[in-house]
Amino acid sequence: MPGMTDPAEWSRAADPRRVIGRVVEFHPEIGSTNDRARAALAEPGGEGRAVVADVQTAGRGRRGRTWISPAGANLLFSVAWRPNVAPRLVGLLGVTVALAVRDACASLVPDAGLAIRWPNDVVDVSGRKVAGLLVETALERGELAEAVVGIGINVNWLPTAMPAEISGSATSLQALLGEPIDRVILLGRVLDALDTGAHALERGDTPLARLRAADWLHGRQLAVDTGETTLTGRAAGIADDGSLLLDAEAGRVALSVGEVARVHDSLPAAVPE
Ligand code: BTN
Repeated sequence: MPGMTDPAEWSRAADPRRVIGRVVEFHPEIGSTNDRARAALAEPGGEGRAVVADVQTAGRGRRGRTWISPAGANLLFSVAWRPNVAPRLVGLLGVTVALAVRDACASLVPDAGLAIRWPNDVVDVSGRKVAGLLVETALERGELAEAVVGIGINVNWLPTAMPAEISGSATSLQALLGEPIDRVILLGRVLDALDTGAHALERGDTPLARLRAADWLHGRQLAVDTGETTLTGRAAGIADDGSLLLDAEAGRVALSVGEVARVHDSLPAAVPE
């Protein structure tokens, strides 16, 4: 298939100096890379192994959605590790990963205005989704014991080939750059950024300033589905724990979980500070 990567090539993205991405394990086809990365964590040397697949038969997204991706076009991978993160910073793990993905993508596609749409989507300047993350964590005695992070990046999948239900709201790095992207190089860059970002969070260095500078929602009028209700208001930035601040009719609220259901204006009313 055109654009397919030789399986042995994926090891070029591994680096023994990292915890995350020390080893890369490639599967032509798998159920979900998240499940394999979680299983690898229980194996000797499996912590931080990057599990990559060309096809997922049970790829999943947030909120139980299916994650679809044509064979060999995109970057689909997961890593599982045991983060040593202070409890007050656990809520920032997802954005740490999102920023790593954003930075790695921006290093190859610098002029697309790549940003973060809370909670952890990577979007282009128009809000079209380029990458999504699925973060699954396990707690022990109230502390973060393990994290399984799955990342799907639309790499060489043109919007003209996407199903109608997503082609208007998603795009890909190839579409933004105007030429195909080497998925192995991209994986190496994401793993570098992820390993660096995870270590920084463990040291207590928060990514909040960078997140606020990359906050695509800031100033926009929107509706957020909290799982219990839908709140409307203007996005007012990101709180210190990673929550979305929303200026709703009844006043300012901080949302720790939720999903942006609608964005009413395409241009922010205020520029992020
Ligand atoms: C989202 O809903 O935005 C999150 C999508 C996450 C998809 C990735 S693809 C690799 C990994 N394996 C999965 O089953 N899901 C994640």
